[in-house]
Parts: sequence; structure tokens; C-alpha cells
Amino acid sequence: MLVGQNEKVQTEQWKIATHVVELESSIIREILKISSQPGVISFAGGLPAPELFPMEELREAMEIVVTKHGAPAFQYTLSRGIPQLRELLAERATAYDTATSVDNILITAGAQQAIELVARAFIDRGDYIITEYPTYVGALQAFNYYQAKYATVEMDAEGMIPERAEEKILKYEPKLIYTVSNFQNPTGITMSENRRVKLIELAARHNIPIIDDNSYGDIRFAGQPVPSLKSLGGDRVIALRSFSKIIAPGLRLGWMNGPESIMGYFERVKQCTDLHTNTLCQYLIYEFISAGKLEAHIARIIKDYRAKRDLMVQTMRDNFPEGIRWTEPEGGLFLWVELPEHMSAKELLPKAVAMKVAYVYGEPFFPDGQGQNTLRLNFSNATHDNIVEGITRLAELLKENM
Ligand SMILES: Cc1ncc(COP(=O)(O)O)c(C=O)c1O
Repeated sequence: MLVGQNEKVQTEQWKIATHVVELESSIIREILKISSQPGVISFAGGLPAPELFPMEELREAMEIVVTKHGAPAFQYTLSRGIPQLRELLAERATAYDTATSVDNILITAGAQQAIELVARAFIDRGDYIITEYPTYVGALQAFNYYQAKYATVEMDAEGMIPERAEEKILKYEPKLIYTVSNFQNPTGITMSENRRVKLIELAARHNIPIIDDNSYGDIRFAGQPVPSLKSLGGDRVIALRSFSKIIAPGLRLGWMNGPESIMGYFERVKQCTDLHTNTLCQYLIYEFISAGKLEAHIARIIKDYRAKRDLMVQTMRDNFPEGIRWTEPEGGLFLWVELPEHMSAKELLPKAVAMKVAYVYGEPFFPDGQGQNTLRLNFSNATHDNIVEGITRLAELLKENM
């Protein structure tokens, strides 16, 4: 018998790194656990609609991958990603957005890994990052791991307020500006063109890179398109993109589009993390897009999410009591609700779950834990019937607690 085989090992005495012990688990994951109880209508997650996953097209593409590409699709590959996919993404960026070469592109395991690579490459302990207030909680988790600090900038309907950003830049000398410029998670707000130009002027004046987490840019279902930060700011902008919301998140595929001179850092950091992104999925997406399936698929998603957003907003207008405000986003997956100041969305959540409806309260999206009276609703994942039923229940709860 090996020594220790039947012993109870005191793992609690193992010396886990201090900064890991101090990491908080995502509150959203905790909320998702509660909201996945049977019968609960959940607007909490950020899940795309699974019935829209293009299963047949993916099956066809996978068949081509296995028969046409064979072994290389199952082999180790380059840390920057397979050349075919990088070339395709560069061509598409050039056609739809801004001149891009294959050397600007690095394939990642989703936009989340791209955020993590940025954090690894830039952040020394205690460095400041400019973020919107509120901002994407997964970015905060990634930045927290490197013990970043936050210089937060309030938003209005046009996005981050540039004058505030400049005050914070002068005060905190941040290393990065992180923004979710399109249909932001959590608020649904899109930065206006005027603000984009101002933000780039700011970035130029102080020579700070802008990280544009453009995970939702392709899912616009209303209003006029706005030029991307990348197209306006060129090498001042590192754009983070993802296939999670436009094909399927389980593929774990995204990409970065940044200045050629800096991509080598991300490549080396990526090597330490996972050598390269899953080869098979890179070939799969390459074949899916090459077969011309992406545009039609995005059109289907847009149609579906527009109808769901319209239904959610209309049900809120018809049922929510006076004194509650919300955003009506032109794309993406989320809308944002502000309750009267005295109310706490966190305290209301157990009551909501008792009424079989769930949301994410706002605090985790604020680096300083404020935003007690706010909450986020996802409209992409529920059925039409559940949107009406869930919002009606939520309206009852709010009326009882105003
Ligand atoms: C703003 C934002 N960035 C990044 C991500 C991570 O997405 P991915 O699945 O591409 O890693 C999400 C996911 O919800 C998100 O909302």
C-alpha cells in the first residue's frame, strides 16, 4: 500500500497563494445556482438562445474538417492560431471595419481569455485601469487576479463621459482604458460616435491603449451602426472579439486585433497559458464561415433577440410601477434597471426567487460594490411566454416593495 493512500489529507493546510485565496468567487455564478432551481424563470444568466445554435451547419462544417483537413485539425498548432482562420478574420475586418493584416490577429479561447492576456501583459500589482461604472464583471475578475485598481468613469446614454475619464487619467495614471463599447454588459449602453472620437483623442493625448471589448458589436437590432473604436483609433485600440454570441459560447473561440508591434507579447503570454486555442474548433469555425454561413446566422439571431427585447420592454412598460427606469438597448443581450434609491435589488432577490423569477443584482458590476438599486435582465435566453410571465411576476414584486 502506498503511504497516505487511506489517510485523510489536510488540504486546508496547503499553502495556496495569498492572492488566490483572496479571490472572490463570482457572485453571478452563485446567483445562477439559485436561479437554476426548477420552475424559476431566469433573466440572470448571459446565455445565448440554445435553439438558435446552427447545429446542422456546424455538423456539415465538422464533416469537412474531418474529411478535408484530417490530422492537422487534431494536431498542435501555432500560439497565434491557425493561419487560415487568422487570414479570414483579417480579410473580414478589412472589408467591414478597418485595414487589418494577419499579423494583427491572435486567436483566443473566447474574449474572456483575451481580457486575461491583456491583464497578464500589462498589469503590475496596484496599477490602475479605467473602466466604465458599472462594467463587465468577468473583466473585473481577470483584472483582480493581478491586483489591479480601478479608476471608474460614470456613463450616460452615450457611454463613458470623456471629461471624467480625463480627470481620472490625470489623477491615477492608468495603464489601460477598458470599455465595452457596444451594447455593454451590464447596461446595454452603446458609446456614441462623438464619444468614441473623444476617447481616442484622450488615449492619444496620454498615450494609453484602449481595450475595446467588442463582444456584442455584431448583434445590433435597432438604431444606426456606429464606427468601431478600432476603425477610428487604429493602433491605439486593441479590439477583443468573440464567436460566443454569434455562433456558440461552448466553442470557446474569440480573437484579438491589435498593433502588430505588441502581438508578440500576447503570443508569449498565451504560450504560458495554454500553448494555443483548440485546433479543432478553429478549423470548424473556419469552415463554417468559409461556407458563407455566418451572415445568415447572425441575421437569425438579430431577428430573434429584437423580438425578445421588444416583448420584454413592452411588458415592463405595461406593468412596472412608476419610479423605475430602464435602458432600451439597440443590440446585445441585456437591459439595465434602476429602482428608486432606497430599494436594494440584492435584498429583493430571495423574494423574487420565491416568486420563481430571477435576475442579477447590480453590485458585482461596480468595482466599489455600489449600485444597490440596480439590476440586470437578460432577454436572449427565455421564451416569449416566460418573458411575459417573468416580467409580470417581477412587476408584482416591485409594486409590493416600492
Ligand atoms: C463584455 C463581455 N466580454 C467578454 C465576455 C466573455 O465571453 P467569451 O465567451 O467570448 O469568453 C462576455 C461574456 O458574457 C462579456 O459579456
